[in-house]
Amino acid sequence: MTRVVVLTGAGISAESGLSTFRDSGGLWEGHDPMAVATPEAFAADPDLVHRFYDERRAALSRVRPNPAHEALARLEAAYGDDLLLVTQNIDDLHERAGSQRVLHMHGRLRSAWCVACDARHEWTGPLRGLTDCPSCAMPALRPDVVWFGEIPHDMDQIHEALWDCDIFCSIGTSGQVYPAAGFVQYALARRAHTIELNLADSDGTTDFHVSRRGPASELVPAWVDELVAGDL
Ligand code: APR
Repeated sequence: MTRVVVLTGAGISAESGLSTFRDSGGLWEGHDPMAVATPEAFAADPDLVHRFYDERRAALSRVRPNPAHEALARLEAAYGDDLLLVTQNIDDLHERAGSQRVLHMHGRLRSAWCVACDARHEWTGPLRGLTDCPSCAMPALRPDVVWFGEIPHDMDQIHEALWDCDIFCSIGTSGQVYPAAGFVQYALARRAHTIELNLADSDGTTDFHVSRRGPASELVPAWVDELVAGDL
């Protein structure tokens, strides 16, 4: 069976009502990433960092997956282990749409990580002021999110899948942050077919064999239909 790797970015969740980072009105317009998304920022002002992620975690209860997330869950049902879904997003919309196997390379909002005992806890409420770890009781919980300067999760598994894939599809990402922005190069090196589904040109657009412009909620279901029908 054709092996497929899909990478998603903030753009796939935009139509669900979650802000992207670099579009107008995006998260990095209202916040300095170096003040809320680095280990140094957390050490300097944990309350500010907790507030930033607590607000985004609370927003998850007000949004729902959109047809793009649902289409990728359909693709997983058809392709099983021949699909690897990698997301840069820390929301849970892929899972709530029905995707069972999602690699969150930048971590997850609905998880808290204890830096004292390394335990991870499902977390839906605020973390600010509640940082005692349920496992070891140390006041050492932080957002389970990969910050700038930290190492993304699951990179070996992702690279292995990219070396082995026939199709690489990038959805809703500006292609400005590595290592995700470099995935298309891995796929090209393996002569995989590369396709981008995005609202606007990204920094990597010229690297893709095919690049379609439009909202993810329209482009992704259409692409999945083509793939499942064997038209690609
Ligand atoms: N449908 C498809 N694409 C969309 C839509 C939409 N409805 N809305 C926006 N986009 C596209 C934009 O054109 C843009 O290319 O989604 C992309 C969003 O880019 P960014 O805001 O840079 O988000 P992303 O690429 O996911 O950022 C990567 O940067 O700050 C870090 O850790 C953060 O994971 C994030 C990483």
